[in-house]
Amino acid sequence: MKILNFGSLNIDYVYSVDHIVRGGETILSTKSETFCGGKGLNQSIALARAGIQVYHAGLIGREGQLLLETCARYGVDTTYIRELPEKGGHTMIQVDSDGQNSIILYGGTNQMQTREYIDEVLSHFESDDFLILQNEINLLHYIIDKAYERGMKIVLNPSPFDNKLKACDLSKIYLFMLNEIEGEQFTGFSDAEEILESLAGKFPEAKFVLTLGSNGSVYYDGKVKLYQGIFPVDAVDTTAAGDTFTGFFMASVIAGKSVEEALCTASKASSIAVSRPGASVSIPSASEVSESLQEQRRLKITSW
Ligand code: RIB
Repeated sequence: MKILNFGSLNIDYVYSVDHIVRGGETILSTKSETFCGGKGLNQSIALARAGIQVYHAGLIGREGQLLLETCARYGVDTTYIRELPEKGGHTMIQVDSDGQNSIILYGGTNQMQTREYIDEVLSHFESDDFLILQNEINLLHYIIDKAYERGMKIVLNPSPFDNKLKACDLSKIYLFMLNEIEGEQFTGFSDAEEILESLAGKFPEAKFVLTLGSNGSVYYDGKVKLYQGIFPVDAVDTTAAGDTFTGFFMASVIAGKSVEEALCTASKASSIAVSRPGASVSIPSASEVSESLQEQRRLKITSW
């Protein structure tokens, strides 16, 4: 079984600010840093850091060598990444003193996939291989249709949520991984239970993982519901927390772990990512995550 992540690669220009800038306001940032990011790249790196062999497909631009090198350095297979002589995807990210962020995304080459390129990449994959997708690239509906025809299991993180998703046949999705805001955008409900029931009604064949910020996360497959709390930390930067969660959850499931264990590992991994600055650089390794979980269990036992 092979794992393909077809997704965005961005250069993130990150500015530390006291508060997120308001309309008409000009503020001075206290720090400016450049990181590799993009929901696609972050999720591939999270999968690789969690010990899974992952192929990344996507398009980088003229200044994208750093993205390619970073993927390779973390063990992501870059065979299917292509470079175009165009401006690449990038973001401008503000991070405030509470670690909250706001992101402006420029699509660049992430919005230049062609049907020929997609067909070529997918021709290397087959039935029961996993395909992981987010919503930062163009032709998502085409990728879903073609991957489904091949019998691939499609995991969709519908982020950022926008109208392009309406063009997709979402009944072909095997697993949705989304947060409560995306859940509300999808269903019109803000309550987690109502979001899940509504999603399960719309997509009866699918499974769902809904993340709920400080209220943890929940898995639902229409019958079984499993809850996971958070591991509280002082937030430094929440960028890529969701991507880390997705990567570690999927890695655990692919490795044959139970859903309970996958939720717990993903929750711990994203709590570590939140305690560090940056996107892909904040993603922990599998051993950091398991050591931290062991330490937590040891403290619980000794304090008992
Ligand atoms: O999920 C975080 C990512 O979203 C950032 O790395 C940024 O590139 C945006 O795509």
